[in-house]
Amino acid sequence: MQTMLANRLQKRMRHLRKWAKRHDISCYRLYERDIPEFPLIVDWYDGEAVVWLYERGQTDDEGETAVWHQDALNQIQDALDLSPRQIFVKTRARQRGLQQQYERFGEQGHTRLVTEHGLTFEVNLSDYLDTGLFLDHRPTRAMVREEAAGKRVLNLFAYTGSFSVYAAVGQAKATTTVDLSKKYCDWASRNLQHNGIRLSHQHQVIAQDCWQFLAKEKRRYDLIICDPPTFSNSKRMARSSFSVDRDHAELIRACLALLANGGSLIFSTNSRGFSLDETAVPRAYLATDITQQTIPEDFRNDKIHRCWRIASR
Ligand SMILES: C[S@@+](CC[C@H](N)C(=O)[O-])C[C@H]1O[C@@H](n2cnc3c(N)ncnc32)[C@H](O)[C@@H]1O
Repeated sequence: MQTMLANRLQKRMRHLRKWAKRHDISCYRLYERDIPEFPLIVDWYDGEAVVWLYERGQTDDEGETAVWHQDALNQIQDALDLSPRQIFVKTRARQRGLQQQYERFGEQGHTRLVTEHGLTFEVNLSDYLDTGLFLDHRPTRAMVREEAAGKRVLNLFAYTGSFSVYAAVGQAKATTTVDLSKKYCDWASRNLQHNGIRLSHQHQVIAQDCWQFLAKEKRRYDLIICDPPTFSNSKRMARSSFSVDRDHAELIRACLALLANGGSLIFSTNSRGFSLDETAVPRAYLATDITQQTIPEDFRNDKIHRCWRIASR
């Protein structure tokens, strides 16, 4: 037990390092619950680690949980040759003992640039649960770059705009990036700029509720990416709440209404129990499940997201 986690991490690192170098990728998932006794996630961000710690089960009390968490963190530190300052811990229930050593409370703003398929993205390892780059959609982003040339691309629920960066670098004719949050829109703008894309009429970032955008938009798009949150009840939304399980049919139909002839919609969700409603896709369209081809090499969990391409028949 004492070095089981450390051994596993080193083995994964040896394996993934070569693959990552070949693809010019500096951040990837090293470990996800590989060993049942260590139910945690370790993501590598170019010389630093983001660690998700979970409860081991019903039987552990607070003291036991703190002990195994500390043991796990020590093994991660040793295996990856990191100092505690290079490890960013995310927990649902915060462990008091760990905060002082590992969590950088009061020392916010650990923002830096990382590389993915040769492109540059800004991540923040310290301040939020998510870092600014969802690693599980790396292949989906690469797919968007491959097919973007000459297309008008719409990125809805865009977060930090990583899909838009891939589309713009892939010579999209135009990109439109929409997110409710001004903070994420600014982040998306910076990500575009980091990759040499100037904001202009051609590449727009719009801080708006996607529902309002979809209701008013007159332009048509050749490629739409729609990766909504599982649930939201943000006050800034036109509706009181959004649940992807409940509302995806309406959302997909609103997206399809903006598709140009021959265009396609990439729709994705992280909702665990999601099932695509038959009424979501009108008869003139075909939904192809592309989940398997969009799960990255470094992810053991192939249920991390589900993804469809929806296009006219
Ligand atoms: C799961 S993230 C999307 C991930 C993103 N597609 C990516 O690959 O990086 C959800 C995003 O949706 C945004 N959001 C939530 N409700 C929204 C709404 N009604 N309109 C626009 N954006 C919304 C949030 O601000 C957040 O950035």
